[in-house]
Amino acid sequence: MDIKITSGKVSTSKVDALFIPIFKETKKFEGELKQLDEALNGGISKLKKQQKFDGSIGKTLAVPTFGNLKAEYIILIGAGSKKDADLDIARRVASSAVRFSKNINASKILIDVNEFASQVKENEDELAQAFVEGAILGGYKFDKYKSKKDNFEVKTLVLRVSRKNKSKAEEKAKIGKILAESQNFTRDLVNTPPNVINPEKLAEIAQDLAKEYGFEVKIYDEEECEKMGMGAYLAVARGSANPPRFIHLIYKGKNPKEKVALVGKGLTFDSGGLNIKPGDYMRWMKSDKSGACAVLGIFKALGELKPEGIEVHGIIAAAENMPDGKSYRPDDILTAKNGVTIEVGNTDAEGRLTLADALCYASEQNPDLIIDMATLTGACVVALGEYTAGVMGNNQRAINEVLETSKKTGEWMWQLPFNDMLREDIKPPNADVYNIGKSRYGGAITAGLFLEKFVPEKTPWVHIDIAGPAHTTSGWYYHPKGGTGFPVRTITTLLLNKSKK
Ligand code: BES
Ligand code: MG
Ligand code: ZN
Repeated sequence: MDIKITSGKVSTSKVDALFIPIFKETKKFEGELKQLDEALNGGISKLKKQQKFDGSIGKTLAVPTFGNLKAEYIILIGAGSKKDADLDIARRVASSAVRFSKNINASKILIDVNEFASQVKENEDELAQAFVEGAILGGYKFDKYKSKKDNFEVKTLVLRVSRKNKSKAEEKAKIGKILAESQNFTRDLVNTPPNVINPEKLAEIAQDLAKEYGFEVKIYDEEECEKMGMGAYLAVARGSANPPRFIHLIYKGKNPKEKVALVGKGLTFDSGGLNIKPGDYMRWMKSDKSGACAVLGIFKALGELKPEGIEVHGIIAAAENMPDGKSYRPDDILTAKNGVTIEVGNTDAEGRLTLADALCYASEQNPDLIIDMATLTGACVVALGEYTAGVMGNNQRAINEVLETSKKTGEWMWQLPFNDMLREDIKPPNADVYNIGKSRYGGAITAGLFLEKFVPEKTPWVHIDIAGPAHTTSGWYYHPKGGTGFPVRTITTLLLNKSKK
């Protein structure tokens, strides 16, 4: 999607559709909207009344101009109540506009951001970015494997802003485009089936990215991981006919002052292993690689944006969890890279085993911060619902940084508390730590507490359990069904903020 920013009059714009956000509170038209209405003999206000268009979020009222104006259609698009207006509402409005455009085959559209911005407290340039993000995210589709493709697409999006904010909006819109396209890249990877993306293929994708953007990349095979002492990760991988690949990407911005390690859970498929998942629970487990795919999406964004002042390491212990004669079993005792011994209670709690070695490896890079993202526990989805990620860690400042950033990006996150009583829950009879808790209660937290054993206390670390929001079977807001690309925008934005410091 091409993005253009204009500060001219909307009525002079030759587009297929001109979208004007309307709040619920809007009773009568003013300014340019009034002029457009007059040019159509009051047709817009008449239809608005007749059709009881009330500005509800995402609702549309399309008025054909029959050659009386440069645009083919004037479309009122509901922006909800002014008091609720924020960046995420802007994303939702833009997404609705793009999706509606398909009905009228409008491939060049304009959204009047200024009409929205002039009535709310958010900055116009940040709103412009949000409109771009919503448009690109909302227009996403995954039809690579369909014989009959939907060829419609909004090719050009023009955003109208005030003259004084034009250049700032241009800058922000560019960032928004890269963030959303990187998120769509992650969605593509998550949606790609497990017979296509196995650990080797994931490593190839990382290598392709490295080539395209000039990142350093190291790929370790089974033997090399064995030498490094990754006993937990390799145990998980052993039951699969597809060999594991340990991926390490490095982005070095100019004059790096801060080093961040990103760790993504990369189970290209999670059958549960010998503790095999029953029927429906195994569906969508191709999305168990979502954390890894998010890391790759973030690297794509870094490659495009080239932020200075930071060095970023992307670390993925890719594997497939399968039942087999070679599979690891419940009761096995494994030794992770840092020497911690793990008693296996359940082979379906495999993610934390792969992350254990990945976190050890990440810690050895001496980063100032580690962030892991993982579709780790069903318990997190029970606790917070499908749309919110659980955030934990060993450093409240770092946790706050992630939570604050997520408020801007609209990726919902909520902190879950570590506490000492739950630490008791992961003490096993015969080793240092158990890979399951005593009961199902607090399962997202016991998983987080397990991971804590593999990060030195002095290294700030944040764990994001994305089991809920990484994937949607129903679609929500600007997310179509499938992989969502969560939390690409939050983590990239956090890195960009660090780069500015
Ligand atoms: N990949 C799953 C977690 C998951 C569940 C992600 C639902 C997305 C949606 C993970 O490997 C798993 O199976 N966890 C178990 C842990 C349990 C055995 C302690 C779970 O949540 O049931
Ligand atoms: Mg599992
Ligand atoms: Zn899993």
